[in-house]
Amino acid sequence: MNYILITGASAGIGEVFARQLAEQGNNLILTARRKEKLEALATELSSLHNVKVEILTADLATPNGAKEIEQQITKSSWKVNGLINNAGFGDRGSFTELSLDRQLQMIQLNVTTLIELTHRLLPNIQKTDKAFIINVASTAAFQAGPNMAIYYATKAFVLSFSEALHEELKGKGIYVSALCPGATASEFASEANMTDTKLFKAGAMTAEAVVKKSLRKKHKAIVITGGKNIFGVWSGKLSPRSVNRKLAGWLQA
Ligand SMILES: NC(=O)c1ccc[n+]([C@@H]2O[C@H](COP(=O)([O-])OP(=O)(O)OC[C@H]3O[C@@H](n4cnc5c(N)ncnc54)[C@H](OP(=O)(O)O)[C@@H]3O)[C@@H](O)[C@H]2O)c1
Repeated sequence: MNYILITGASAGIGEVFARQLAEQGNNLILTARRKEKLEALATELSSLHNVKVEILTADLATPNGAKEIEQQITKSSWKVNGLINNAGFGDRGSFTELSLDRQLQMIQLNVTTLIELTHRLLPNIQKTDKAFIINVASTAAFQAGPNMAIYYATKAFVLSFSEALHEELKGKGIYVSALCPGATASEFASEANMTDTKLFKAGAMTAEAVVKKSLRKKHKAIVITGGKNIFGVWSGKLSPRSVNRKLAGWLQA
């Protein structure tokens, strides 16, 4: 029996991945820190769609998080044919004023755990059919982001890493895709202290629309969601980096 592992499945984009994949008949392993939310979602999805839904609680902003997940999967002899590295957070503010600890935790969660889970689970994934990895990056990946310097840098890393891995694994039957949403309605904006920014005031996509496109296009190396965001990324390629980073800073001042 194959499973798809989703990190950050207790809310937002990760929860919607769980809902849409269960509806399509997939067995799931859901992970996040909030156990009650995962339990409620697992009970709901397994009874609604007749699929198996397992939960693993873990703090993935700690150095042991990915290893704990791998050990649980190995101990239970679960086969994983899909990995969605979705858990992540941002924090708005100047680099010098934001807490160093929180910024290091962001790198751990958004980057280090994502790489570690991917590396640890690939041998398991390689033994399955129709395998895929979706790494949730962001439109933030395409330029520097003053006032959210570390968050934008983590997403640039995720995009670059995912594109390279896409090329390395495409001949081996594993699709790797970097999902790049723009502003999306979830708990992210309040967690990142961004609800009053021009970026979010201009309107956010639904997580349902973001996930629907990601799953439909998971064979693509890069998936940008929303016409406005696609336009932003492509027009950014024609303008100087100095302009793009100033615009990003202005949108989240
Ligand atoms: N929303 C946007 O505008 C937007 C735009 C572009 C990219 N993204 C990216 O999309 C991804 C999902 O974000 P979202 O919008 O769905 O945000 P969200 O609603 O805040 O959900 C974040 C998820 O990550 C989990 N998480 C956070 N810290 C964790 C930790 N230390 N250990 C384990 N799990 C943790 C949370 O679960 P617990 O709190 O239960 O642990 C939650 O399930 C992130 O990578 C984000 O950077 C979001």
